[in-house]
Amino acid sequence: MSAFLTPKIHLVGDVSSTMDVVREMLAASPSDTEPFAVLAESQSSGRGTTGRQWSSPRGNMYFSLCLPTTLVAAEFLPVLPLATGLACRAAIMELVEGAVVHVKWPNDIIYDGKKIGGSIAECEGEHLIVGIGINIEVAPPVPDGGRPSYAVNSIASVLGKGAVTPQLLAEAVWRNFFSAVADQGFKRPELIKQFEAAMDKSLVLHKRTPTGRDPMPLHALKLNEWGHLVVGRPDGSEEVLVAEYLF
Ligand code: BTN
Repeated sequence: MSAFLTPKIHLVGDVSSTMDVVREMLAASPSDTEPFAVLAESQSSGRGTTGRQWSSPRGNMYFSLCLPTTLVAAEFLPVLPLATGLACRAAIMELVEGAVVHVKWPNDIIYDGKKIGGSIAECEGEHLIVGIGINIEVAPPVPDGGRPSYAVNSIASVLGKGAVTPQLLAEAVWRNFFSAVADQGFKRPELIKQFEAAMDKSLVLHKRTPTGRDPMPLHALKLNEWGHLVVGRPDGSEEVLVAEYLF
């Protein structure tokens, strides 16, 4: 396992999407069994969740981790997005001392109610590709009425800390990600407990619908044993969310 704690990151310039670059690399060496990652300076076709565009100007982190599926315990696979969010949160808090960063189920990284990053996961043959975007220098405008965005170096500046670079952050994300995911002794209940503790439960959430936003305000209450989110409605009733994305 310790080998995976040494980041193997390919630095590239402007690309369509780091997800595509990883796929091209896999196609060139399909039997590669070692994890690797791609860090791009910018993306012309960055992808977000549910087919949305991920604005990708220079200055932010566009990072895709690639690992063989065999590296992840079966019970851990359903909660990989949660593990990714926790790894990003830990990495930012390591590099910007004093920053209080939260996660928003299932895949967002949040500071002071604003979105600073997110992740997607895709499968390619026997490999998993985990794509992570974190705003470091630039907080791009949010096009679809979503949560306002913010950037890591704005947090650093407010706290009087030094600026973070995409490469430093990517290396810290790699270390935190693999120290959790490749540790077969680290079990799902512990991960769920950590994610629950890292959620900002004061956020008002809304389900995303095909046409926009569901008007019902929801609050995160807890996660169930599968990592699904239990939310509370204003009338006190509860609902379990399995695959929704939230504003
Ligand atoms: C989200 O919608 O919150 C997830 C955004 C994920 C963006 C990252 S940037 C690196 C990788 N390449 C992509 O095209 N998307 C992911």
